[in-house]
Amino acid sequence: MTSDGLTSQQKRMALRWQRYVSPIRPSKGMVELYEKNIGIVIKNKFEYVWGLLGCTPEIRSIAGKYQAKITCIDRNPDAFYAFKTICEPSKYESFICSDWLSLNLDEMFDIVLGDGAMSMLPIEEHGTFLKNIHKIIKPGGYAILRIHTIVPLPFDSPKKIFDWYRNKNDITPIFSTLWDYLYSLWLNLDTLNVSHNVFLSKLLEVYKAGLINLEELEKLITDNDYSVLVQYSRKEIFEKQISGFFQIESVDYAGDYPLHRNHPIYFLRKK
Ligand SMILES: C[S@@+](CC[C@H](N)C(=O)[O-])C[C@H]1O[C@@H](n2cnc3c(N)ncnc32)[C@H](O)[C@@H]1O
Repeated sequence: MTSDGLTSQQKRMALRWQRYVSPIRPSKGMVELYEKNIGIVIKNKFEYVWGLLGCTPEIRSIAGKYQAKITCIDRNPDAFYAFKTICEPSKYESFICSDWLSLNLDEMFDIVLGDGAMSMLPIEEHGTFLKNIHKIIKPGGYAILRIHTIVPLPFDSPKKIFDWYRNKNDITPIFSTLWDYLYSLWLNLDTLNVSHNVFLSKLLEVYKAGLINLEELEKLITDNDYSVLVQYSRKEIFEKQISGFFQIESVDYAGDYPLHRNHPIYFLRKK
């Protein structure tokens, strides 16, 4: 146990999240969009019950502002305890340890939120995921999901990505700043994800081409969590998949980082 009551594994998770920037973490613009949509749903109904897919600290802090009844649903309890120390959660927060693909809950929530939850699942599982999420929402309830889609990229070559990174006004960690830009560029257009081998071999190519130095190469390799799948989808595939379950209230983009068009926030109402 560390001094803040976390195991060393949980402490590592909390530190890792603090080193990350958007778009791995929700950007300021995304947090505002979550707040806008949540505000539309709850109006003055503070008794509403929220479900969170995962343990995203930024969303738990929004629930903290409302002192909402929020349940984080994650297959890894460490994420719940680790991220509790880096947000301002609601005192009515609880945790359910479950896989989203085998949820055994019924119409529990007025609103379900997921920041990049679906992108952690292989595309073949997206239908099951959406069916399960639909099932846990009360009739007439809502879902707010940030998803990872493919759209024309702001930077269509590694050189443009690294040039942008070097010309930015603020210095941010190279891996968490650029990871999504590089993955989006190196996607296999059949599987809509990037294998680890492709990621590593492409990084070596950019190193050999002189676009990054050895220290940056090492950071890009070692800061990646290779246990995490990042599955992209296409807008048309996603909208077809949700059409039986949800009606779209709005689709918003955070607008505060170049890749924001890849990360729509869908505000959905249960059919
Ligand atoms: C909500 S996700 C999103 C992270 C980040 N916002 C992003 O875009 O990459 C992170 C959490 O999902 C959890 N997770 C991944 N797959 C899961 C599954 N099938 N069932 C339950 N939890 C899952 C992980 O344990 C992790 O704590």
